[in-house]
Amino acid sequence: MKRIVILASGTGTNAENIIKYFENSSIISVTYVLSNKKEAKVLKKATRLGVANGYFDKNSFRNTNNVFTILKERADYIILAGFLWKIPLKIIEAFPNKIINIHPALLPKYGGKGMYGMHIHDAVVKNREKKSGITIHYVNENYDEGAIIFQKSVEVLVCDTAQNVANKIHVLEQENFPKVIEKVILKNGE
Ligand code: GAR
Repeated sequence: MKRIVILASGTGTNAENIIKYFENSSIISVTYVLSNKKEAKVLKKATRLGVANGYFDKNSFRNTNNVFTILKERADYIILAGFLWKIPLKIIEAFPNKIINIHPALLPKYGGKGMYGMHIHDAVVKNREKKSGITIHYVNENYDEGAIIFQKSVEVLVCDTAQNVANKIHVLEQENFPKVIEKVILKNGE
């Protein structure tokens, strides 16, 4: 059994979708959900779905081994599903090509610090982009720069608002993220 720990900061629609997708799998299971926000909706979703969960603050993430220890004990893969803090180098080095992030844009465009959620869709509309999309990629020590695993684009129409774009991206995320995670894990085997 390959074990996934999900890190998420917010609403958790991706986390919920991933948990449900693997609920009846005999090869992949979501063992834990961790958030950097005590009140994050994602933690309530995890509890409702019967997945163990917890939260941590910046100090314990950066300066203690608390999170690292949980990950070493519980994770073969770490999935970032709307997680907004940079991952400490120690964790990246301990999980080479085992940390996967989803980004709601077509990287390398609209990546980097501060580029997340609606900030991205606002910028996409403001710049009159003709398309946007999702990027699923491995995580390295720089924000949004790890090797790309999968991208899918969607048309942005001149009449689209940032919220319209967000809705289209949401559909792409729900359709693709669990399947891509599954493919990566199955391909890596062992
Ligand atoms: C998702 O759209 C995800 O792609 C984005 O945050 C949202 C989380 O939604 N991630 C980033 O912007 C990372 N830079 P969710 O909490 O409902 O899954």
